[in-house]
Amino acid sequence: MAKKAAKKTAKKSKRLNKAKAAEPTIYKGLAGVTVDTTSVSKVMPETNSLTYRGYAVQDLAANCRFEEVAYLMWHGELPTRSQLRKFEKDERSRRNISRSHVEVIRQYPKRAHPMDTLRTSVSYLGTTETAWGGESADNDLERAMNMLAKIPTMIATDYRFRKGMKRIAPRKDLTMSENFFHMCFGKVPPREVIRAFDISLILYAEHSFNASTFTARVITSSRSDIYSAVTGGIGSLKGPLHGGANEAVMYNLIDIKTPARAEKWLRDKQANKELVMGFGHRVYKQGDSRVPTMRAALEDLAAWKGDTKWLEISDILQDIMINEKGIHPNLDFPAGPAYYLMGFEIDMYTPIFVMSRITGWSAHILEQNASNSLIRPLSAYGGVKQRKVKSISKRK
Ligand code: COA
Repeated sequence: MAKKAAKKTAKKSKRLNKAKAAEPTIYKGLAGVTVDTTSVSKVMPETNSLTYRGYAVQDLAANCRFEEVAYLMWHGELPTRSQLRKFEKDERSRRNISRSHVEVIRQYPKRAHPMDTLRTSVSYLGTTETAWGGESADNDLERAMNMLAKIPTMIATDYRFRKGMKRIAPRKDLTMSENFFHMCFGKVPPREVIRAFDISLILYAEHSFNASTFTARVITSSRSDIYSAVTGGIGSLKGPLHGGANEAVMYNLIDIKTPARAEKWLRDKQANKELVMGFGHRVYKQGDSRVPTMRAALEDLAAWKGDTKWLEISDILQDIMINEKGIHPNLDFPAGPAYYLMGFEIDMYTPIFVMSRITGWSAHILEQNASNSLIRPLSAYGGVKQRKVKSISKRK
């Protein structure tokens, strides 16, 4: 009898083990999964470095303007002087948005978040241009250039209307960074401010298969158009776990108010098990390679403005997070206060990120199209067992 029972138990556990072995491994959040190759950028957490097309991002930030990096992203090489001239001439000639687009922006609810209005604006641009040409790489490159040139105009126009001001038309004699300040504020700030802004755009331009880039690649993989892919990318970037963190950082710094309040504020957050925005990264665990360059730009801005309060608060948070938790700041941590010192409204920080990331997204969209395979993972079903439908009169 005992022998029979033991046999039965062994059989049952064999059956359970077999079922367990058949269960797929779940890679929650796709963490640690390599889904494709890319030649756009390389993130190397082990050496805390990042390259765009083989160039270290710090090297690019020290020696290039944002337009050169945009060219690099799409063409794989840094431009010569004449290539840059042609590229910039093209970009500057496309900065205006249509009268109908200006009217669409005028209609946006004044309380709408600028990421929502920008997402709608890019989508609107798609309605006017998707029918134009086929889905060839050349046409997509032209559409990418259109977005690079027009997105700053969309953001600045929306900002001016929201504030009840008249829009300011783009100028062709200014760089992208200078022109953006001109369209927002009607003036171009000193060189150090433009330089810090340009550096932030270079650092934000690209970062391999992050959530928004992967979103854009997923959309592209169904052979959808570039505007749909970028619109999806904007939706993904908006989230506070991704690009939205640069806004969240500044709201937190303002909430803290003074260096004297910083430690208690952080201890309260920790006690409530809340995330501290601007810290942590899915890939970098020993520090974000872009932070020292952006931190140096923030220090320059703080000195120019004569306002070191945000730096002092940041340092207190950073020291505790690194020394006690081993969690390092990411790029959004210095970028948030940098944009604040430049005079931008907080809800414009993530749209500014889009101005830059449009270059990386488009490079990935072109790459996905050139070697496409529909992105369609599997899932393991975790719901109720299959059952029979009861007619409505028999359901309780
Ligand atoms: N504040 C407090 N704790 C944090 C943290 C943060 N910003 N980031 C990570 N942690 C903690 C997690 O809670 C986790 O703790 P646990 O092991 O006790 O549960 C641990 O550190 C490991 O985090 P991990 O799960 O490896 O992070 P992730 O890879 O899932 O998430 C982020 C990465 C970016 C989503 C996450 O760090 C985060 O939400 N940061 C704040 C938002 C932000 O700045 N986003 C911009 C990213 S560039």
